[in-house]
Amino acid sequence: MASDGQKVVLITGCSSGIGLRIAVMLAKDEKKRYHVIATMRDLRKKDKLVEAAGDAYGKTLTLQTLDVCSDESVRECVHSIKDRRVDVLINNAGIGLVGPVESITMDEMKKVFETNFFGVVRMIKEVMPDMKKRRGGHILIISSVMGLQGVVFNDVYAASKFAMEGFCESLAVQLLKFNVTMSMIEPGPVHTEFEAKMVEDVSKKEFPGTDPDTVHYFKNVYLPSSVDIFEALGQTPDDIARCTKKVIESSRPRFRNMTNPLYTPIVAMKYADETGGLSVHAFYNLLFNFGPLMHVTMNVMKCLTCGCLRSRTISPN
Ligand SMILES: NC(=O)c1ccc[n+]([C@@H]2O[C@H](COP(=O)([O-])OP(=O)(O)OC[C@H]3O[C@@H](n4cnc5c(N)ncnc54)[C@H](OP(=O)(O)O)[C@@H]3O)[C@@H](O)[C@H]2O)c1
Repeated sequence: MASDGQKVVLITGCSSGIGLRIAVMLAKDEKKRYHVIATMRDLRKKDKLVEAAGDAYGKTLTLQTLDVCSDESVRECVHSIKDRRVDVLINNAGIGLVGPVESITMDEMKKVFETNFFGVVRMIKEVMPDMKKRRGGHILIISSVMGLQGVVFNDVYAASKFAMEGFCESLAVQLLKFNVTMSMIEPGPVHTEFEAKMVEDVSKKEFPGTDPDTVHYFKNVYLPSSVDIFEALGQTPDDIARCTKKVIESSRPRFRNMTNPLYTPIVAMKYADETGGLSVHAFYNLLFNFGPLMHVTMNVMKCLTCGCLRSRTISPN
């Protein structure tokens, strides 16, 4: 249970990756300012988190079951918290989906929206009324650069993050009136199981209903570029956790928080040209005309952003 003065932080999707690292970093806060309720949909996956939490487990970090796709699970979890008090809600749970749209079933697409969009909406609806009553709280969402800029063959995933960005951008205004703050954390690529799950998923697929040219572009042009980008620009889950902790601890938390400044020009390009043509053609050329050049560039970036240099690319400062 949280002690006096401690902030209660509820985090979704803590079995791995970013959620796990945020939970551990906050629970190990030197000043013990947080009581972390780390949630996951299947508690059989708790071992990695428990091990990483070490002494903090059972003290500043407790575990709860929570499936963001289930009304009942969300309600039960929040009801189980003393006075339903959540000071900081971190919506982290999410799933990816890549591939040609023709090969993706409507059910697969709905599952992505059910998790990445409605999962966040469900959490906010359960926690927000109490925050409004208390006139205080902070809601954070692990969004993505793909919530700001679409990326080829990530159509449905990007759409789910765009939907969430629109929802939160709208709600943030009303919440300000109740002293409730909303912050989007917008990472580029991050080395987590997300990447491995995507590669595994793709390797099993046969892409029914997709013409051979599109399958070729996806497998032999997009996928190698994507691997290059992850290797060259990917951050660690700890980088994202550090950024998230900074946002929570800021006296005036920003609404948008891109974690990787190397992506700032990409988003700036989108807003610099209201016709949208600049972004579309730049991405087209990068993928289809300058593939080999991009491979070389990414390898150079990999060297430039290695080790200590990479650790300096975390924003906001
Ligand atoms: N990795 C990246 O490159 C990247 C970049 C930008 C943004 N993000 C975002 O970061 C967030 C975390 O992803 P990650 O990279 O840390 O991937 P990850 O290691 O795959 O973690 C995703 C977490 O979400 C959980 N989850 C999935 N569906 C859930 C559900 N219905 N209810 C509760 N939990 C559920 C997973 O639980 P299970 O173990 O049960 O599946 C897992 O704990 C996601 O929202 C993702 O969109 C990731």
